[in-house]
Amino acid sequence: MQITIDNLSYTYTDPSGQTVHALQSVSCSIDPGDFTGIIGRTGCGKTTLILLIAGLLTPTKGHIFLDGRDINDKSYDRNLLRQSIGVVFQYPEVQLFETTVEKDVAFGLTYSRLGSKEKEDRIEWALETMGFDFEKIRKQSPLALSGGEKRRVAIAGVLAVKPKILIFDEPIAGLDPYGRQNFMELVSRLNDDGTTIIMISHNMDALAEYTKRLIVLDEGKVIQSGKTRDIFLGWGRDTRGTEPQQIASLISKGKNTLLDDVVTYDDLIFALKKQLLGVEQHE
Ligand SMILES: Nc1ncnc2c1ncn2[C@@H]1O[C@H](COP(=O)(O)OP(=O)(O)O)[C@@H](O)[C@H]1O
Ligand SMILES: [Mg+2]
Repeated sequence: MQITIDNLSYTYTDPSGQTVHALQSVSCSIDPGDFTGIIGRTGCGKTTLILLIAGLLTPTKGHIFLDGRDINDKSYDRNLLRQSIGVVFQYPEVQLFETTVEKDVAFGLTYSRLGSKEKEDRIEWALETMGFDFEKIRKQSPLALSGGEKRRVAIAGVLAVKPKILIFDEPIAGLDPYGRQNFMELVSRLNDDGTTIIMISHNMDALAEYTKRLIVLDEGKVIQSGKTRDIFLGWGRDTRGTEPQQIASLISKGKNTLLDDVVTYDDLIFALKKQLLGVEQHE
């Protein structure tokens, strides 16, 4: 599904009547099958943007179109929206509340029209996709699991719906490096299978490695958007509020022209091989 965001603004009014212009005239688009990262410093409007895309907030101004249709139009089918877009909020594990893992994942399918056999197949698929042995995990209490396992169960609940668009708000915050890599690889596989991924993250290394495109926000506005590689290679020009990825500081770019094209660890290995061994191509 094509997402088109047109001149979108959102203003919060807090109980004291103070207004916060969280988003101001944001326009951008996300193609079917994209893996898009949203970056920018805390408070720049990232979470507000995804809440609007998922139809959980109504724009103060502007429009969000899915395949050309305005999701805030009265005639737009809310059930279709719920089936099309899955959102995994920050620390989703706090939302687990059922007595078994299986019931928790099934909760996501409450509104689906699937039969009970199909529902069970979906639950099994979602939990196995998240790296669990279905038979072992299904009857366990979610509360007895580790933090990382709880998070994977919560994500399985969103996956079970098989949304065409999956949105994650800082999904790897607080995971160890192994957990982060596992998670990013899993999301990449879902993207390879055609799911559009939108991911907010402060982890520039993970974004450099896995995303195809980036949207950079600052104070409620889009200050850059484009291919991940182009944005990281142009780092420092106009990416206020975000840190250069670790790898760039590791190799102190600019001192050695051989390293000019390095964004990911693969690139770094390639550049070093080229320098040390004279190897000319990615293997
Ligand atoms: N419920 C709310 N009421 C009032 N202001 C809010 C509310 N939620 C967020 N904001 C404000 O809107 C701005 C954007 O917030 P948010 O979208 O959460 O940014 P980010 O996810 O990039 O940290 C911030 O200034 C934030 O303080
Ligand atoms: Mg946020």
